[in-house]
Amino acid sequence: MNMYELTFLKQEFYQAYSCEPQVVAYAPGRVNLIGDHTDYNDGWVLPAAVNFGTHVLANPRNDRQIRVIAKDYNDESVCFDLASISFNQQVPWSNYVAGVLNELMIAGIEINGADLWVCGNVPQGAGLSSSASFEIAVVKAFSLLFNFDISGELAAKIGQRAENRFVGCNCGIMDQFISALGRQGQAMLLDCRELSYQYASIPNDMAIMIVNSNVKRELVDSEYNIRRQQCEQVAKFFNKKALREVSLADLEQAQADLEPQLFRRAWHVVSENARTLRAYTALNNHDIHTLSQLMADSHASLRNDFEVTTPELDLLVEILSAVLGENGGARMTGGGFGGCVVALVPTSMVDVATAAVETQYPEKTGITPDIYLCTAETGAFTA
Ligand code: GLA
Repeated sequence: MNMYELTFLKQEFYQAYSCEPQVVAYAPGRVNLIGDHTDYNDGWVLPAAVNFGTHVLANPRNDRQIRVIAKDYNDESVCFDLASISFNQQVPWSNYVAGVLNELMIAGIEINGADLWVCGNVPQGAGLSSSASFEIAVVKAFSLLFNFDISGELAAKIGQRAENRFVGCNCGIMDQFISALGRQGQAMLLDCRELSYQYASIPNDMAIMIVNSNVKRELVDSEYNIRRQQCEQVAKFFNKKALREVSLADLEQAQADLEPQLFRRAWHVVSENARTLRAYTALNNHDIHTLSQLMADSHASLRNDFEVTTPELDLLVEILSAVLGENGGARMTGGGFGGCVVALVPTSMVDVATAAVETQYPEKTGITPDIYLCTAETGAFTA
């Protein structure tokens, strides 16, 4: 963000609260290169934080009141007391703030009231983690306001708990973790059980292209939670804590005893874990051919076995793969059921890939896609 934009945000805060904000916090959204629906199975993911995010400007108060204004919702505002936090049915976005503050207090962190002003540019409902970036930006703002030290890991857990226990989505840890601890120019291989992580550089000659199918994501939370339950059911069948501990050979052996749908769900997760680990190595080795294949396999698995893609996502992947061949990769990214496709595109092919999507996608669907060329960025708590 340049000085001009920052001044503009501060002016808006001033207009709302008649004083300067003491704190300006920011956290990025994310794109996942590979490893979807693996995080809540204690598996591996390979996301990057992106150059879209959420700003929270804030001032402390002397009482326990929280006031929040959301620029992106026509300056809609909410006000609540830290002593009596409850779910707000009328103003859904406010639950991300309330949930995070509730979890900070449960974690024993001392906070007080605050005046907040929020705005973001992560496309909402597109599967690029606008909500995680909001949650992490709120944690960051409060850590600056009330001077507490909090690790990126704990910040991520607070965000996830807010989502799981307050907002009602049973998501894994990936989105909050990468928003907190992303690194510029790099993707992160995160072990979602150990919460250990390492980074791999995105090659300089490759661009991260995100294409929003602009199909509204429907039934996302309910379908997501069903997938999660199905995975847990199969883990239980094997007497394991999570599918991470199950191998493809285990699955094959048990195939006759598992419902076909459950078998396919688990097959996706177990094979996706293996692909994610291989993709990390391929990225480190600048082995784009292998990456290309792994991304294609990942998409096919999410389409056929996990059944979270849409015809529009499938079409986008088809269009991009036809252009890129082995020189790049494309797959749906995030939770699915609409949303975005991510592609790793040689910089020299960005124009032709863009043109193909811009002509073929509307021709076949009547929908105009949005294309974002992204860079991998630093997280809100990255040292
Ligand atoms: C959503 C969730 C994540 C993860 C992805 C699928 O983004 O918030 O925790 O499960 O879906 O990989």
